[in-house]
Formats: sequence, structure tokens, C-alpha cells
Amino acid sequence: NWTMVNIADESIEAVRAQVGGRRAICALSGGVDSAVAAALVQQAIGDQLTCVFVDHGLLRKGEAEQVEKDFVAVTGVNLHVVDAQERFLAALGGVTDPEEKRKIIGREFIRVFEEAAREIVEGGPGTAGPGGGSGRGSGDGAAGASEPVEFLVQGTLYPDVVESGGGTGAANIKSHHNVGGLPEDLQFKLVEPLRTLFKDEVRALGEQLGLPSEIVWRQPFPGPGLGIRIIGAVTRERLDVLREADAIAREELTRAGLDREIWQFPVVLLADVRSVGVQGDGRTYGHPIVLRPVTSEDAMTADWARLPYDVLQRISTRITNEVREINRVTVDITSKPPGTIEWE
Ligand code: XMP
Repeated sequence: NWTMVNIADESIEAVRAQVGGRRAICALSGGVDSAVAAALVQQAIGDQLTCVFVDHGLLRKGEAEQVEKDFVAVTGVNLHVVDAQERFLAALGGVTDPEEKRKIIGREFIRVFEEAAREIVEGGPGTAGPGGGSGRGSGDGAAGASEPVEFLVQGTLYPDVVESGGGTGAANIKSHHNVGGLPEDLQFKLVEPLRTLFKDEVRALGEQLGLPSEIVWRQPFPGPGLGIRIIGAVTRERLDVLREADAIAREELTRAGLDREIWQFPVVLLADVRSVGVQGDGRTYGHPIVLRPVTSEDAMTADWARLPYDVLQRISTRITNEVREINRVTVDITSKPPGTIEWE
């Protein structure tokens, strides 16, 4: 629609005016907002943008690949991938407290991003490094890697602006992590092309920019990812179990045509709980998972989603058949309030 064309064109112009011939970096999270912001800035300044994707190993099945391959294929963006899975697992070792998990994940994310940013600031994408003679011509090229990186692109939306600037004294129920708190010695000016938009407008803009619908219509996903959907300590094995169960639930929801109606569908692994089951002639002693489909307008309040029984049944049968460690599937029927959407 023409309004979105307008918004896209105007935003691209505004980014060009702000950044000029200088360089910017951007952290891709796998979510809608950072993807749309990056795609927009890429259209505005091309190679002057470098995106960083920190693979912390807490994403859902297939999502890292979607960023590393599909997003790059569509946008042609310069992408710097950091495989930090081991580092996050080590940092999270034995930690069970939800807020502690968030702090660790937020802190490690900033450190890894900062390291990558330094490399980019110092080296530049695709340069031969200091003294390397090949590559781009010097001087006039707008995307010259010798230009300093001055800008950090963030997918801040209007509700985020209101929430953080409001100062209403609302209690901080869960500390949400963002890339906001970068260290003092790495100072960037912010480019926030989505600052005036709501989520639905960001999605429309994403479609306008040609992003794949799997990215544009992705349900909101918390920054700390699957790390706060394992109740108990995070381990690689537990992540693998949860990722499989989550993928099945998502697949069946999509197959039923309900993925846009459902606001979010956390699948939660009760990693320290076991229950007895029976499969074939054998007794099992496995873990339960919780399905937490909710409907919502803005995540401030939510209602548990009345998924059709046959969809729930398919999810339950498939998970218990296909994920050996899980022998019990439960559904969370608590609204928010009093429950939050996530379990941690
Ligand atoms: P709750 O669980 O508080 O979640 O009802 C409300 C919304 O926020 C998301 N969420 C987070 N997002 N970092 C994020 O970026 C976090 O630490 C975090 N915790 C919750 C949650 O998925 C829901 O959309």
C-alpha cells in the first residue's frame, strides 16, 4: 500500500541524510525488528553497513540458518557471524535463577558484540587489514573501509520508546535485555529507523522491503531465547530436546493455519521434573513439557489460546513419539495476569 511505500522511501532518505558516507553496524537477533531495521539501512547505505549475528545457541530450530542464509540472500547485507554457543553454555553452567540467566545472557551478548564491533571498526569488512594494499580504491569511495564506524542501528519500536522514556515507575517485572548498554569506550550514534512505528507497521514495511514471510511474520521471541524456556540449568542436551519439541509445536500450529492468530507459543521444558510413563512394554521416566499458546495485543496482558483439541492432540502425539526424553505434554491455561507469558 502506498503509505508503506512512503514510509520506506522516507525512512531510507532519512538514514542516508543521517549517516552520509560513514559506516554503521547492526546486531541481528533473528527477530522481526532488527531484520527490518537492517534491511532498511542496507537499502539506504549498502556496503557501509555491517551486520553482526551472535549465535548464542539459544535460538529455535532453523532460525540461525534463516539469518545466515535467507536474510543475506534477500538483502545482500554484509554479515559477520560469531559462533558463541560454547561461550554462552559455559557462562550459563549450573545457573537456574531466571534473572541471573537474563543478566548472564545480556552481558555475554554485549561482550561478544563488542568484540565483533571492535574487529569491524578496526579491520572493516573484506579488507586486507592494516597495510593490505588490495581492495577498494582509496579516498572517494563512500563505503571505504577506512571510514570510521560511527553508527549503531537498532530496531527500536515506538512502544519501546514509550516504555523506556515513560518513567511511570512501573515495576520492572523482568529485565528485558537489549543492545542498549554498550561499553563507554565504544560509543556509537544510534540509527533507529523504526522509532515511530508499531509492530504491524514494521511487518508491513518488512514485506515492502521484500523480506521472507518467515521472518516478517515471526512471533515475538525473547532475547534470552530458549535459555528462559528451560526451567532449570541450561545444557546443550536440554536445548536440543526443547528445540525439537518447539519445532514440532510450531510446525503443527502453522499447518493448522493458526500461526498468525496466536501471539506467541512458548514451549517450556521442565528440566528438573520427571514423571513416570509407559511406552511399548517399557516404563519411562522422562520430562514434561508445557505448551503455552497465548493471544495478545501487546504482551502486556494475554489470554491462553483455546487451540482446537485435534491440533493439541497432534502436537502431543508427535512430541512424545519423536522426542525420546519427553513423556508428558501439558497445556498452560493461565491468563496474564496472573501468569506471565514466559515461565521465567
Ligand atoms: P512476559 O513473560 O513478561 O513477557 O509476559 C512479555 C513479552 O516479553 C518477552 N520477553 C522478553 N523479551 N527479553 C526480551 O527481549 C527478555 O528478557 C524477555 N522476557 C520476556 C516475552 O516473550 C513476551 O513477548
